[in-house]
This record gives sequence, structure tokens and C-alpha cells, in this order.
Amino acid sequence: PTAAAHPERATEQSESVTKINAHTINETARWLEGSILTSTPTRYGYGRGFCGDLWVYCASKKNELPPTVGKQWPQASNSGRPRSLMAGPTPADSTGDRVAALNLQLAKASPGRIIARALEEFGAHIAISFSGAEDVLLIEYARQSGRPFRVFSLDTGRLHPATYRYFATVEQHYNIRIEYCFPEAATVQQLVRTKGMFSFLVDGHRECCQIRKVAPLRSYLSGVSAWITGQRRDQSPGTRAQVEAVELDANTGRNGHKLVKFNPLAGRTSTEVWDAIRAFEVPYNPLHAQGMVSIGCEPCTRATLPGQHEREGRWWWEQATHKECGLHGSKPDAS
Ligand code: ADX
Ligand code: SF4
Repeated sequence: PTAAAHPERATEQSESVTKINAHTINETARWLEGSILTSTPTRYGYGRGFCGDLWVYCASKKNELPPTVGKQWPQASNSGRPRSLMAGPTPADSTGDRVAALNLQLAKASPGRIIARALEEFGAHIAISFSGAEDVLLIEYARQSGRPFRVFSLDTGRLHPATYRYFATVEQHYNIRIEYCFPEAATVQQLVRTKGMFSFLVDGHRECCQIRKVAPLRSYLSGVSAWITGQRRDQSPGTRAQVEAVELDANTGRNGHKLVKFNPLAGRTSTEVWDAIRAFEVPYNPLHAQGMVSIGCEPCTRATLPGQHEREGRWWWEQATHKECGLHGSKPDAS
């Protein structure tokens, strides 16, 4: 659509022009750089991005940085620029653009706002991944949004008995049914028949986690367009320091499309999460009261001592940089 086709939007847009600050513009320029250098068939590179409530353009002569960035709306002078640059706002060109735009909007937003926006954007095609720990707060925020929401859990078969009971408590409290995902029986059987029930203590947790968590997760995610996780940057400085509020996921989503991942708690600390759990009177896993901070499978989780980092309670026989089970893989290129 063009400005003429949406006059009311044009007014709205021009009023918000003044709200763009230099930082936002620079951020937009940064993520648009990729398309500038790679996607243009013309003598000018260009890119478009959604910035707050405003579409902006970013242009430069091919391979020449830094680009100039400005508001694309309303129509500006088109001196020498390709026509496509001057067109009105269009839907995001790809999932990568959409993710970058959402992340720009939501990077500093509250967890409740991020979840409400995620549910608004993806409706029935997004689900909350719930491990049975403090990520219950995600469910609370989803309830507060007033929108329908889905929750799934990976039942590895090795969770704590208390966690199974807690799942039932959460279902009752929120009047929901959790979508449980199970590992493939034949593969688990093959693993334990050849290596025993505790192979992970001998040759590391990767293989077992791959079978019991990662494969079922991949299978579930192939049926949705986006998911919401409880990951936080402070959970694991060695592996989660770069977690963003909205990311492109390495897994494939519904209909083979790219998958979007929301991490509404990314910038929150453990203390802030627990303040919220208490403030909203959210039921929590009783294992937390026994000194377990980060909770996973029973054989791979233990209580931590005062002053110990929460990640020390997971796979404690392995190095800190190996303490990821593969649920949260590396990010793909946003193209
Ligand atoms: S893990 O990779 O080390 O196991 P962690 O326990 O920190 O992950 O949890 C981080 C987030 O991953 C959780 O908030 C949740 O969104 C997701 N997650 C972890 N384990 C599960 C699970 N069993 N079922 C569903 N989601 C999970
Ligand atoms: Fe297996 Fe432990 Fe990973 Fe659970 S956390 S899937 S028991 S290695």
C-alpha cells in the first residue's frame, strides 16, 4: 500500500517521526546492513525496517557504508533512488525482517507486554514451552493478557516426581491442558539397552538430551510458527549472555517456514522473576523450596549452595560452557 492508499496511516506516521531517536535509527541501520550489501539488484543498496510505529528506509550506494537512514514515510524526495525505495510500507520481506522489527520494538518491553504481543501476532500458532520451574511466570503473563494461549512440556521420562505433580497443579490453577511431548520409545529403548540408565554420567548428557528433549522439541516446533521460552541472560553467563527478546530460531516451524522465538524474560534477573511470582501468587514447584533453582531432569539436577550459580545445579560433572542440552541452539542467519 502507498501513502495515498492509507491517508490516516500517513498522518499517524508523520506525527511519530519526531519520536525516533538516533539510537533506534542506528540499530535499524545495523540490522538493515545485511540486505544493503546482498539484496539489491540496482545501483543503490537499500533496506526497509519497522521502527517503533514507523517504517524507515536505509540506503547507500552499493557496498558503501555507513548507509544513510531516514524515514520512508511520508514520501520523501526520490533523487536518484530506486522507485522501490520510495514505495509505502509493505509487509516485512521475510521472517528475518519480522523478527528484527519485533526485537527492536520489544527489546526493552516488559515480559507481560512481550507475551501479549507474541500472542497477538501468532494466535494459535505459538506455544509457551514450560519446564515446570520458574518459567511458570510465562503462563501467568499469558493469562493476564486475556488471550487464549497454548503450553507444551517435554516429558523426558526422567523428571522429578514433584514436577509431574506440579504440572497437574498448574493445569488446575490456570484451567489449561499442557501439551506433553514424549520421546520416541524405540530410540530411548535403544539407548538404555545399550548404555544403561545413566549413560550421561559417563559420556555426557548430549546424547540422552538429544533423544529425550531435542528430538521431541523439534517435532513439536514443526507444527507451530513461534514459541515462547523462559530463557534469561543471567541463567548462564557462559551460554546465554546473547539471548534476545525476539530471535529467529534455528529449528524449522510450521509448513517448513522459519520459526520465531520469544524470550520475554531475557533481560530479567532471577530476583525479579521471583518477586513477580510472589506478587502474583503464582503456584511454584516445591523443589525450589529445597534449594533447587534451575530444575531439569531428576538425575541431572541438584540443589545449589548459597553463593553458587544456579547453573551449578545442572550437569555438575560437566564444564560450564557445555551446559546446554540443545533446546536452545545457535541462531541462524536472519535472511
Ligand atoms: S535447559 O536447556 O537447560 O534444559 P532450562 O531448564 O534452563 O533449559 O530452561 C530454559 C527454558 O527452556 C525454559 O524456561 C523452557 O522454556 C524451556 N524448557 C526447558 N526444559 C523444558 C521442558 N522439559 N519442556 C518444555 N520446555 C522446556
Ligand atoms: Fe537425559 Fe539428564 Fe538430559 Fe534429562 S537432563 S534428557 S536425564 S541427560
